[in-house]
Amino acid sequence: GGDLVVLGLETSCDETAASVVRLTPGGTATVLSSVVHSQIDDHAAFGGVVPEIAARSHVEMIAGVSERAMAEAGLGYGELDGVAATAGPGLVGGVMVGLSFGKAAALARGLPFVGVNHLEGHAVSARLGAPVAYPFLLLLVSGGHCQLLEVRGIGDMSRLGTTIDDAAGEAFDKIAKAMGLGYPGGPALEKLAASGDGSRFDLPRALLGRKDCDFSFSGLKTAASRLAQACETDQDRADLADAVQSAIARQLAERSERAMKDYAEKHEHRLLVVAGGVAANKTVRSTLEAVAARQSFSFLAPPMAYCTDNAAMIALAGAERLQLGLTSDIDTAARPRWPL
Ligand code: KG4
Ligand code: ZN
Repeated sequence: GGDLVVLGLETSCDETAASVVRLTPGGTATVLSSVVHSQIDDHAAFGGVVPEIAARSHVEMIAGVSERAMAEAGLGYGELDGVAATAGPGLVGGVMVGLSFGKAAALARGLPFVGVNHLEGHAVSARLGAPVAYPFLLLLVSGGHCQLLEVRGIGDMSRLGTTIDDAAGEAFDKIAKAMGLGYPGGPALEKLAASGDGSRFDLPRALLGRKDCDFSFSGLKTAASRLAQACETDQDRADLADAVQSAIARQLAERSERAMKDYAEKHEHRLLVVAGGVAANKTVRSTLEAVAARQSFSFLAPPMAYCTDNAAMIALAGAERLQLGLTSDIDTAARPRWPL
């Protein structure tokens, strides 16, 4: 076949997003448009995402956001080759909004429909910035997930490790909240850390030296929250932010290094990819890049705009599935839980 042009829709958390992506038979992706409406202001007063408010906001925004993505791509719905929407995992009320809108758009134009796993979207997101050949080792770090995955292709991944308590983004968010920073906490904590020096704090190093590739952040969260109570000056808080950021980055790097050693025994092509909201963190990126170099792995992160939730990654995962003939039934259900 020729190029595939796919509309992607993302409504699984607190961003209403639509994007049009073109995929060539050789696997080169071009983002024709990517529109993200963030609901952060709607949820800020509650210190986190309120599912009912999120779902209602998606209903209000989805048609307009989708129209804008089509207009910016300079296309009509009839010129698409398919429609893809996140079918889970996530807040199910929101997932249903994008999923139903996507099915309706596909039905109205007689187009194939693809229900996409949000995690699969993150898994392919680095391909939006550069051509990336399969297989690769993936560290997926978002607000809800913290996993190491062997990615052999679309729909062909296996998990090497996961968190036994909080996700990395969740750790950033909870510690930031304990420090009195706004929601979402990750970006706020990174900003504060820039003027800090965390070397005087000795935070716990979880699971160090363990033979598996799992993560744990609850000990760090408890320790950091206790230290946050004792902070007196802005400098104290900046120093603690820096210590927390380094500790999270260090754990992600240590567990990834463990996984790289196993991965290298099975695969000749050594590439570590990081994806998800936490991949936007510069300290996380540089720490991972350093251990990857030590293990003779190349290292790749998506362009900043495609780390946090977006619809371009959903459009691309949809296009890759479409290329393989993997379409979904029109009665595909929204799934609050959906492991890869
Ligand atoms: O991938 P994402 O947008 O949504 C989920 O699928 O969960 O990830 C959101 C998470 C939040 O926990 C947020 O605090 C974190 O990613 N995050 C960051 C940064 N930007 C977003 N964490 C650390 N540093 C950042 N710059
Ligand atoms: Zn996400």
